[in-house]
Amino acid sequence: MRFFDLSGQTAVVTGAAAGIGEAIAWRLARAGATVAVADIDRDGANRVAAALVAEGHEAFPVEIDIADEASVARAMAKVLERTGRIDILVNNAGVAGKAAPLWEQTPEDWRAVMAVNLDGVFHCCRAVISHMRARRYGRIVNIASVAGKEGNPNMTAYSASKAGVIAFTKALAKEVALEGICVNSVTPAVVRTKILDQLTPEQIEYMTSRIPMRRTGTPEEIAAVVHFLASPDCSFVTGQCYDASGGRATY
Ligand SMILES: NC(=O)c1ccc[n+]([C@@H]2O[C@H](COP(=O)([O-])OP(=O)(O)OC[C@H]3O[C@@H](n4cnc5c(N)ncnc54)[C@H](O)[C@@H]3O)[C@@H](O)[C@H]2O)c1
Repeated sequence: MRFFDLSGQTAVVTGAAAGIGEAIAWRLARAGATVAVADIDRDGANRVAAALVAEGHEAFPVEIDIADEASVARAMAKVLERTGRIDILVNNAGVAGKAAPLWEQTPEDWRAVMAVNLDGVFHCCRAVISHMRARRYGRIVNIASVAGKEGNPNMTAYSASKAGVIAFTKALAKEVALEGICVNSVTPAVVRTKILDQLTPEQIEYMTSRIPMRRTGTPEEIAAVVHFLASPDCSFVTGQCYDASGGRATY
């Protein structure tokens, strides 16, 4: 018996061309899901989808800009055209923004982070929720951040956007609790991916020093948590926020 089996299911993973999203794509594909590798980076999405197929899994690339409602609608329509179903949506794509105190942030810096991290989750959930409601099944996993619980200095927009994702998750979960749809979020602490290129070494050192395990996480460790939340086994868990933070969060 294979636990958390996803055979026959379709999963859309945003930001799957790299980092945590790529690890999630591999994990869900290896569990049997057909994975739509959705990313703004078309070449990266092609590369990951091809690698998944080369290992014998079902996967295909989808170009998406989650900040753009029309792009999201096109991408989800493409997935439905291809597989006829979306069982799992993992809202993983995100940006860190500029690492600087508030007085060095412009309104444009703020909007750029909110447009992807918060508007993006809204657009993607909104694009699939009617389909999931009609089928009375769905699993949505939103990748937030421990910054959304604690607030990281020099990352006001990022921290606020991720707190928004946590609250959005709890609210949406209650709206669809009677419809077979579970919506949860995951809050990683620092994970070694290229998103860290947007930050200074001091910022990364600050974030790592706050982790009781005194190390960064791996994308695979985040993917393991997502796998359960994306599976049919996650049937009495909704509206929750799961830490994958080496013990950093205190609640
Ligand atoms: N790495 C960390 O330390 C860490 C910690 C906590 C939370 N997170 C969250 O995990 C998620 C993944 O982060 P990561 O570290 O793998 O980042 P990453 O930069 O390695 O990968 C992000 C992916 O998202 C894609 N992307 C960016 N903007 C997009 C858009 N508008 N539309 C579609 N795709 C877009 C990028 O092309 C890239 O492939 C993010 O939401 C991030 O905030 C990361």
